[in-house]
Amino acid sequence: MVMGQSQIWSPWIMDDIHSKAELGRYRVRGFSSFQKVTHFDDLVFLSTGLTRFPLEGYKERCNTQTIIGHRYAQNPLVLDTPVYVTGMSYGALSRTAKTALARGTAMSGTATCTGDGGMLPQEREEAAKLIYQILPSRYGLSPHDMVRADALEIVVGQGAKPGTGGLLMGVKVLDDVAAMRDLPTGIDQRSPTRHPDWLGPDDLTVKIEQLREATDWRVPIHVKLGACRVSDDVKLAAKAGADAIVIDSMLAGTGASAEILLDHSGIPTVPAIVQAREALREIGLYGKVSLIASGAIRSGADAAKALALGADAVAIGLAALIALNCNKEIEESDFENEIGVPAGMCHHCHTGKCPVGITTQDPELEKRLGVQEGAERVANFINSMTMEMALLARSLGKSDVHSLEPEDMAALTIEASAMARVPLAGTDRVFGW
Ligand SMILES: Cc1cc2nc3c(=O)[nH]c(=O)nc-3n(C[C@H](O)[C@H](O)[C@H](O)COP(=O)(O)O)c2cc1C
Ligand code: SF4
Repeated sequence: MVMGQSQIWSPWIMDDIHSKAELGRYRVRGFSSFQKVTHFDDLVFLSTGLTRFPLEGYKERCNTQTIIGHRYAQNPLVLDTPVYVTGMSYGALSRTAKTALARGTAMSGTATCTGDGGMLPQEREEAAKLIYQILPSRYGLSPHDMVRADALEIVVGQGAKPGTGGLLMGVKVLDDVAAMRDLPTGIDQRSPTRHPDWLGPDDLTVKIEQLREATDWRVPIHVKLGACRVSDDVKLAAKAGADAIVIDSMLAGTGASAEILLDHSGIPTVPAIVQAREALREIGLYGKVSLIASGAIRSGADAAKALALGADAVAIGLAALIALNCNKEIEESDFENEIGVPAGMCHHCHTGKCPVGITTQDPELEKRLGVQEGAERVANFINSMTMEMALLARSLGKSDVHSLEPEDMAALTIEASAMARVPLAGTDRVFGW
């Protein structure tokens, strides 16, 4: 045995201690958690044999239309697909990236979300459906923009940094971003953690009522939660009057977060959806309050499994950025020289040096991303996810992706069986239940 084989005192742990000892600070990074946890790959679908008829792909339709927020809103979000793009702020992302995401989602009949820091005029122009975030920071919050939104999303927490506020390193707080957020330029922005006008869930009820009045009961009000104490949080948000609840897991992406929160806080996407579904069921609101899942949704298979577990829709962040070219060596980029790691290993969104122009405010780097080409790639990716979901649903004999259910799946590991509450493959046993 040699020291390097120790799982507890690995070379990486020692390197971590060395750098903290030198700098006297905690680590911040972008992208997402590096923890190995149970995820959708640990679940499989049980497509049809003799027990059910599969549907013919070329002549039998599979519905993918998705309605979000029909509990109280006069105009719920009606999307052509259960996949939409999550909130990623202007500041974390370049203006070009925001515009490309808005155009790309419009091209595929779905929605995008502002993120922290306000609504970009280009984003509003390009997006067919735009969700407007209301965060504890209130950066860039404007009642004029609020009434131009197609849905509002109150952010209580994010999966990548539950219990803390947004983080934008000073290198990205340039003139435009600073002006929109009413902040000085070049200073690290650590957003507040709590909404200034709340002391508890009753104040969330008041806030939801205020927003409904401000928007004439037209648009859905979403509440976004980092997945920690899912069951209680979901019940409280639903009781407070949310039309839709976004449950964002520990695997969720970020532009910047403290590494300890990324890796050591929150629960994975699979059990988060199941707990949220059960919580809504217990209070009789499953099917009335829309459930949206986010956190490492990478394909139509992941999205279909999320729906089968109980979600009505999924929101994608990193997958949409990867469709824009994140972690891809392009003609103009040189990942190794510019960022210090090869393409495919980059998690440096927090540095503002994105070699493909996505998570940067540097005008030269931003030129590496084209709005139209980026939008087309995002639309292609979302369309392919939608087709994959329909393909899986048809193979299970279902004419609507929303008819997928836990009974359609088996788990490949005991952990996945316990977390997803579906039987271990080859057995009738749901472990732990
Ligand atoms: C670059 C980047 C910026 C983000 N900015 C915000 C934000 O402003 N507000 C917010 O609520 N979440 C933000 N998030 C988190 C996403 O909304 C979402 O919760 C997460 O990306 C979902 O996980 P996924 O990336 O694995 O799909 C950001 C994520 C990324 C990758
Ligand atoms: S390529 Fe850009 S968006 Fe992707 S991880 Fe690196 S810095 Fe972030």
